[in-house]
Amino acid sequence: MVTPTREQIRELAQQKEREENGSLPSITCTDSELKENGSWFESRDQLMSDQATQATLAYLEQQAYDLGFELVKRKIDYAEDLEDFPLEDILKYACFVAGGRGSGKTNLLKLLVMEALKRKIELKVFDPSLAWKRFPLPKIRVTKENLEVASQWNTIYDISRLGVLEARNFVMHMLSEDLTEAIAATDIGMKPKCLVVIEEAQNIIPSHSLRSMKFLEISRFITQSRNFGLSFIASTQRLASVDINLIEISGVRYWFKLEGHRNLVKARYWLDKFTTWRLRDLEVGTCYIQQGSRIKLLRLPLFTIEKVVAQ
Ligand SMILES: Nc1ncnc2c1ncn2[C@@H]1O[C@H](COP(=O)(O)OP(=O)(O)O)[C@@H](O)[C@H]1O
Ligand SMILES: [Mg+2]
Repeated sequence: MVTPTREQIRELAQQKEREENGSLPSITCTDSELKENGSWFESRDQLMSDQATQATLAYLEQQAYDLGFELVKRKIDYAEDLEDFPLEDILKYACFVAGGRGSGKTNLLKLLVMEALKRKIELKVFDPSLAWKRFPLPKIRVTKENLEVASQWNTIYDISRLGVLEARNFVMHMLSEDLTEAIAATDIGMKPKCLVVIEEAQNIIPSHSLRSMKFLEISRFITQSRNFGLSFIASTQRLASVDINLIEISGVRYWFKLEGHRNLVKARYWLDKFTTWRLRDLEVGTCYIQQGSRIKLLRLPLFTIEKVVAQ
């Protein structure tokens, strides 16, 4: 860690004393007075923590550079007027949710899904971890035996029994069929309003996958579906392992608590460095919502079935 110099400490401590006592710039305290009043140590701690932050941010930038990310200097404005659940924008531009395990992603997805249902948007959820077990929508458990199950809306697909490759193929196949149907519906003048929720997106669309031939169908879905009234919300707890294009294409992003330098380095690609840095300290259920260059801190309520029944 870099230690602040005595001159730096003295200058900040003098400034603190002046602010506290409203005294003139010409009046100065001796070092021992500053130490006695506590402002010396307070200033030293503040400088050390500022410098540690600066050093870590510099480290993050170097890591991003080493990983081959060209960091765009994104300008971020804090905007209180952003909508918490901008479903219309999500239908148009898709949505990406990032955050560590237990940071509150699934809870947000449930709130978004309830809001979508209220607005008569049809949807389906691919649930790899039984997190939607008690959610009030019909469920279909997908196993090796019924991989060909027909596509159905307002349904939770429990894919927890499938291995990663099976789950990936299942989701890819179903989304490809949904897109074909949406195109056919649009052709006869109908405009579907459908939303697909993909949890643990790093398993379905891992890093560098969207350019590969094997992922052609899902790539088609990700890039074209919104033109036909079909959009998606993807979430991941491993930001570093998900395809970068999936995040870039999503016009609405939610950022929950993130740790681990590879994850933070990747987040830095879309966020300014101070917001990225603050991601480490977010509490459960608190996140940033980002739309374009605008961002807002959001404290979400806890989703409960009782609340839904009461409505
Ligand atoms: N907004 C919130 N307010 C209070 N508690 C929350 C909130 N969101 C999540 N939690 C708590 O944290 C736990 C993990 O949340 P979850 O959404 O499942 O996280 P993730 O999907 O990111 O792993 C939940 O079981 C719940 O108890
Ligand atoms: Mg979850």
